[in-house]
Amino acid sequence: MSLFPDVVSKNASSIISPPLPDSLPEFDSPLRLGILASGSGSNMEAIAQAIQSGWLQAQIQVVIYNNPQAHVAQRAQQWDIPSMLLNHRHFASREALDEQIIQTLQAYEVDWVIMAGWMRRVTEVLIGAFPRRVLNIHPSLLPSFPGIRAVEQALQAGAKVAGCTVHYVELEVDSGPIVMQAAVPVLPGDTPETLQARIQQQEHRIYPVAIALAATVPPK
Ligand code: GAR
Repeated sequence: MSLFPDVVSKNASSIISPPLPDSLPEFDSPLRLGILASGSGSNMEAIAQAIQSGWLQAQIQVVIYNNPQAHVAQRAQQWDIPSMLLNHRHFASREALDEQIIQTLQAYEVDWVIMAGWMRRVTEVLIGAFPRRVLNIHPSLLPSFPGIRAVEQALQAGAKVAGCTVHYVELEVDSGPIVMQAAVPVLPGDTPETLQARIQQQEHRIYPVAIALAATVPPK
């Protein structure tokens, strides 16, 4: 049982971090993003909305998805964004899939690789092709709860604060320097679904900002 359930629920929104800027940095030309997604694509859509509203100066060049059922394909179509299915089952190795991803990203002249619910491990092949230009979003406050079912992990551990992290991608899963995080309270009675929904609201807020932030840092 939570010690201060009323205080926590009353102040729930004040626990949320961080306040976001009204405007984001401007670049010489729009950032050219390639999105990798395996699922619903709500983060892809949040990025597309941030671009459409003029907040994020970027363009989604292509959406690559690995799962034929992924709803992100429909969302890409609605946004008139080219999409490409690269089904991991049709590739002999992770490296072979990454090679094809790189070819596709290069064909669409992508500068930044944005993993938005991409549920495949990436290899040195992809990371090496886009040094310090691959970002991922993960539904936990890393370094806590890396890997799959991060939201369930947080609930099972009895965490009182959960959240999401945007980080540069390195070889080890859900590792790499952190660009931005947002925290949400874990409320009494939360299920994986209710907590996931609260975390996703924050993902949609911070991912566009984190992309802009990362793009102001020169690659190593
Ligand atoms: C997001 O919650 C993201 O944090 C998670 O997948 C979801 C994709 O949602 N990613 C991971 O768990 C990666 N380790 P979306 O398809 O609606 O953007």
